[in-house]
Amino acid sequence: MPNHPPLRILFAASEAHPLIKTGGLADVAGSLPRALTGLKQQVRLVLPAYGSLLARIDKPREVAAFTVGDHAVRILATVLPGSRVTTWLVDCPALFDRPGNPYLGPDGQPWPDNALRFFRFAEAVVRIASDTAGLNWQPDIVHSHDWQTGLVSALLSRLPARPATVFTIHNLAYQGLFPWQTFEALGLPGEWWSHHALEFHGQLSFIKGGLVFADRLTTVSPTYAREIQTSEYGYGLDGLLRHRAAVLSGILNGIDVQEWNPGTDPRLAQNYNRRTLGKKAANKAALQEQLGLERRDDVLLLGMVSRLVEQKGVDILLEALDALLLRPVQLAILGSGEARFEQALQAARARQPGRIGLHIGYDETLAHRIEAGADLFLMPSRFEPCGLNQMYSMRYGTPPLVRPVGGLADTVIDATDENLAAGTATGFHCPGERGPDLLATVERALSLWHQPPAWRRLQEAGMARDFSWRHSAGEYLALYRQIA
Ligand code: ADP
Ligand code: GLC
Repeated sequence: MPNHPPLRILFAASEAHPLIKTGGLADVAGSLPRALTGLKQQVRLVLPAYGSLLARIDKPREVAAFTVGDHAVRILATVLPGSRVTTWLVDCPALFDRPGNPYLGPDGQPWPDNALRFFRFAEAVVRIASDTAGLNWQPDIVHSHDWQTGLVSALLSRLPARPATVFTIHNLAYQGLFPWQTFEALGLPGEWWSHHALEFHGQLSFIKGGLVFADRLTTVSPTYAREIQTSEYGYGLDGLLRHRAAVLSGILNGIDVQEWNPGTDPRLAQNYNRRTLGKKAANKAALQEQLGLERRDDVLLLGMVSRLVEQKGVDILLEALDALLLRPVQLAILGSGEARFEQALQAARARQPGRIGLHIGYDETLAHRIEAGADLFLMPSRFEPCGLNQMYSMRYGTPPLVRPVGGLADTVIDATDENLAAGTATGFHCPGERGPDLLATVERALSLWHQPPAWRRLQEAGMARDFSWRHSAGEYLALYRQIA
């Protein structure tokens, strides 16, 4: 092995667990920097200083101050809790110190100035990346994520000397599209109004800043890397992605195996591991109790923790629901999202309160308890760049039912007769996108559940899989070294 000096990596994202989280991006932005630090690299994480984030940390230190456009910003330094990762917060109260969600106002609609907010954030990242922020630190690599940081690679591309850039697609469905007037108001270079740059069918596309200008593109699973090059999953960007195929790769997300460990998880009613799987039942009982479900062992408890949006196949579940409830099953659902899905689930629960447990909202403790207490985890996504919940559920001995797309296809091995015989099966693939497909797959799960030794082998196979960052962080490092 050649002896490489450590790389300096600037990691720019719009959320990172445990400081601020709306979805899986935060899990990755909170755990990959830690894994890279473990590989002896020098990582700095940069995030917007949202009000709710500032409220969670103790006395951050001001380490730099400058202006971007007509906004004064301060850089506040803290440490990502539970790690040694230095984290820089871009503090600009006019843009980021607002109640609630990083992207949405209290009305559930995107903040009207999101383009300006994330443009200024990108400009601040570029100041840090070009070592003109006064921090006296020059990265070799700038790694940015999703549309909110798309302009980082674009802006850096204009500098004569610059660090190498990597852009990771966590979800191509969110592109950061704005009208032409916004392009003009931000004062972006006129030549970028071209379909070779930021223009996308008459709109300004933030994600294209990453897709067009970054030196390397990655996405969060090998299968999704192939899918987004097709018109079915490409959202109109598949042509561009095929054009950049030589620099595009898929690296499967890892998970934080400390935080998601049934053996030590303090949020559970009862800890357990692969050898003490019998103890898992206490978590089912506690979950039934907590959600007001009938206290029964003879029903298959289906769990779901999800943003309630079309991506996640909530409508597939709703289509199957009545027929599903004719079987010996219960449901434990945690999620929030589109009002139509929240209302439909609330109405279903009102009809069958002892069979459907529902919590609309965001609740990390309950998320862990569902992973542990459910028998089967539902994730019938229409598309899924990677997905983390299916990996959490396998680790918790709760086999997942998934649609075999994206990272779900790459992580869950279907309980076919052959895979069961080989002892490799870890879950269930649902073949289609309709209610009857889901129903048939739940029936397949039910019949295996009624064979306890076979079910236990399925649980154990999932629990034995290594979903840690060990492998994938090494893949990112190898990629960085190619371009540093
Ligand atoms: P996505 O990022 O598309 O939402 P992932 O499976 O990658 O999907 O990650 C979702 C993350 O968000 C997981 O850590 C999951 O536990 C968490 N999560 C989603 N909805 C909720 C919720 N309502 N309450 C608590 N955690 C949630
Ligand atoms: C996105 C995707 C999800 C992925 C997560 C982290 O939110 O929807 O599949 O796991 O990002 O990469």
